[in-house]
Amino acid sequence: MASSEVARHMVYQSLVGIKATCVTSQPCKEERITDEDPRSLTITGHVGFESLPDQLVNRTLQQGFCFNILCVGETGIGKSTLIDTLFNTNFDHCGSSHFHPNVRLKAQTYELQESNVRLKLTIVNTVGFGDQINKEDSYRPIVDYIDAQFEAYLQEELKVKRSLFNYRDSRIHVCLYFIAPTGHSLKALDLLTMKHLDSRVNIIPVIAKADTLSKCDLQKFKLKLMNELVSNGIQFYQFPTDDETVAQLNSSMNGHLPFAVVGSTEEVKLGNKMVKARRYPWGIVQVENENHCDFVKLREMLICTNMEDLREQTHIRHYENYRRCKLEETGFKEVCPEKKPLSVLESQEIKRYDSFCELQRKEEEMKQLFVKRVKEKEAILKEAERELQAKFEHLKRLHQEERIKLEERRRNLEEEISALGKRKAACELKASL
Ligand code: GTP
Ligand code: MG
Repeated sequence: MASSEVARHMVYQSLVGIKATCVTSQPCKEERITDEDPRSLTITGHVGFESLPDQLVNRTLQQGFCFNILCVGETGIGKSTLIDTLFNTNFDHCGSSHFHPNVRLKAQTYELQESNVRLKLTIVNTVGFGDQINKEDSYRPIVDYIDAQFEAYLQEELKVKRSLFNYRDSRIHVCLYFIAPTGHSLKALDLLTMKHLDSRVNIIPVIAKADTLSKCDLQKFKLKLMNELVSNGIQFYQFPTDDETVAQLNSSMNGHLPFAVVGSTEEVKLGNKMVKARRYPWGIVQVENENHCDFVKLREMLICTNMEDLREQTHIRHYENYRRCKLEETGFKEVCPEKKPLSVLESQEIKRYDSFCELQRKEEEMKQLFVKRVKEKEAILKEAERELQAKFEHLKRLHQEERIKLEERRRNLEEEISALGKRKAACELKASL
């Protein structure tokens, strides 16, 4: 299918069900259109709204599309090579060293054009993933990055004067999760990371460098991985089967997950045509040969068939989830305690009232705390005063006793002096006789 036809097909899909119908709803008491089924009428001549899908296609083509891919995988696992191979170009990535203390995310945006379809493609790479000794928190920067993009969109949505129409959407539409071709089982790091990502992003697991495993080992590995993903409750993206034009293809592709991929941008001459391949001493692995690997399946599913669904799922499932949790966290409710639906204004009013009550409760608490503290301080001061008074009384008593003793000694000394004086006078009298 040509790219403009693909775009048209997508819009047609979203408009499926538009028939010559007429809404004959009767305004109810609140002057609202009711949910009654519209009455079907037949139109007798050309009206023109059949061009609506074309109008939409033209507008979307003018606007261009955006698609954001997150590549999660260990350093050197083949992320950049696969992206180059998928988009048939060289994105000029630079490899990363194995010595990063933390996992970092690096986003780069490119403008691509195929026929008259313009695509703003953002590739976000994990730098240093799997290189640390302690990998317990390696998933956190990835989760934070995804949430930050949701938050930015939510903030734009909540602005009074918002411009979502030309907003540069940075939400991650798909996460290609690169699994190392160990042939054994998933690493704890992979399980933990996928577990934290699966409610936030559409995950497509891929077995990287699949040419390093034999066909038989690969089949066993795929089965093992699927069992592990399912038994650990990890949700990964399922190609949708509700659109009958792609239902069969998508459901058969769901059975091939996780895709075992090989990446290479090297062109090798095979017969009289050039093919993308990896060259080995014993022969070549053709990237686009379905007997050699699942690269074509991945490209078909990711780009040609389900790109729009991935964008849509990001908005209606993952973003919606984030938005609901965030608004609930900030106190927005959709139903009141009596389970009656609430409008945003009513919800805000309830939230304002709740905050007011909470404020009053806190104020009352603070007052009581203040009074309690003042009383405690008063009691402490009184106790100190009492202690001081007792000390003073004690010292006064000691002083009094000391004074009495001194007085007593002074009297005794005076008596001794007078006795000595008398004895002296008697001696002098005796001597003069
Ligand atoms: P960083 O950005 O440094 O984390 O690496 P990366 O994950 O982007 O890996 P990159 O694409 O740079 O590839 C690393 C090496 O693996 C290169 O030597 C590639 O040629 C090789 N490589 C890439 N894809 C494949 C593959 O499918 N099979 C094999 N055997 N080697 C591959
Ligand atoms: Mg790279």
